[in-house]
Amino acid sequence: MNILVIHGPNLHLLGKRKPEIYGKATLAQLNSGIKKHAAGLGAKVRAFQSNCEGEIIDLLTANAAWADALVINPAAYTHYSCAIRDAIEALELPAVEVHLSDISKREPFRKISVIKPVCRAQFKGEGQLSYFKALDFCAALKKQ
Ligand code: DQA
Repeated sequence: MNILVIHGPNLHLLGKRKPEIYGKATLAQLNSGIKKHAAGLGAKVRAFQSNCEGEIIDLLTANAAWADALVINPAAYTHYSCAIRDAIEALELPAVEVHLSDISKREPFRKISVIKPVCRAQFKGEGQLSYFKALDFCAALKKQ
């Protein structure tokens, strides 16, 4: 199966950005772990990072035909991007929301996810394991 992985704004700074919250791994290391994990599931991954809302929507649109499922860490867009929410809904891609940190235990504005209602599942608070669990979830979807 083909899994589209999208990392939202500021995730290009992984490794340097608040490692006590987001961990020490860089985005390149995270993507390599994601690709390895996906290969173990027999899945192919296309991974992208963008700091721009419109670009994320364009990436979703451009890769929707290729992808069987979407794993997305919308980062700060999680909390207010109705545009990304609508794109996921419109493309009818089975989507899974992921966060490195536990957004339910941080500042009040992070507790809200406008993306969650258009996703099949949300994995959070477990660093890269959150992504691996999302990939496992996608693989299980395919078998249904
Ligand atoms: C994040 C949590 C968001 O609140 C934050 O804006 C991020 C990263 C996470 O992975 O924990 O940039 O999505």
